[in-house]
Amino acid sequence: MKGLTAVITGASGGIGLAISKALAKEGVNLVLFGGTNAKKLEDTAAFLKKEFKDIAVDFYPCDLTDDKSVIGFFKKAAKNGVDILINNAGQAFSAPVEDTDMRVFDKIMDLNFRAPVLITKQALPYLKASKRPTIINIASVVAHNGYPLQSAYTASKHALLGFSKSIAAELYNQGIRVHVISPGGVYTDMIKTARPDLTGEDMIMPEDIAETVLFLLKNRTNAVIDEIRLHRAAKEPFA
Ligand SMILES: NC(=O)c1ccc[n+]([C@@H]2O[C@H](COP(=O)([O-])OP(=O)(O)OC[C@H]3O[C@@H](n4cnc5c(N)ncnc54)[C@H](OP(=O)(O)O)[C@@H]3O)[C@@H](O)[C@H]2O)c1
Repeated sequence: MKGLTAVITGASGGIGLAISKALAKEGVNLVLFGGTNAKKLEDTAAFLKKEFKDIAVDFYPCDLTDDKSVIGFFKKAAKNGVDILINNAGQAFSAPVEDTDMRVFDKIMDLNFRAPVLITKQALPYLKASKRPTIINIASVVAHNGYPLQSAYTASKHALLGFSKSIAAELYNQGIRVHVISPGGVYTDMIKTARPDLTGEDMIMPEDIAETVLFLLKNRTNAVIDEIRLHRAAKEPFA
């Protein structure tokens, strides 16, 4: 994978950072795309540049729910091509449906579903020019199951899964592989905020998801792997 270029959204923490580190170790050039905390993304890029001197690390902070920013920045971000797109940025939300304002539904749908669609559309011309084009979308077990108090988050991840299934079939003959990873609770800031009672013990770690990403990228066989679900052993999956 050395010398390929990956665009990763939500790379400033949690799963996105773990994926970025794992790809950097393989010699993949990184484009850290999107983040509302520009300083955090800049610090992440500086850390990765220091740790992995042989790769290029670019970063483009922007709110992924803002179409204009996404379209404008993506043109710059893709200047060296795109071989791998990781749609990872996302946000959970937990509340009874009757207390969930429609603006919250829109916000969660915009980030978790609409942004990956828009970014995929921007990336496709570049992916089509790549020799190993791959899209990996980070969904969740809520893309498959329904949990109480998570209607907005669950709907957004179901939509992402449906979109991914459709484009996986549509793009296969063009050589573009599309995969979905659906983790249960992963010990990141997202879950630390939503479930402060959890200690992280026996939970899925961001590095486990990064390993799965590497597996998918390295195993470009004739078998199509379109979806991997990682559950916490013996515990109710959370997100
Ligand atoms: N943690 C879990 O238990 C779990 C389980 C299943 C699936 N997932 C999924 O895995 C993905 C990553 O989750 P995580 O736990 O690593 O989350 P995290 O630690 O909270 O990181 C989320 C990332 O998304 C970025 N982001 C949030 N809103 C954004 C916006 N409007 N525009 C641009 N970037 C934005 C954040 O950057 P800023 O802070 O700078 O905005 C951050 O880099 C999400 O899609 C999540 O749904 C997580």
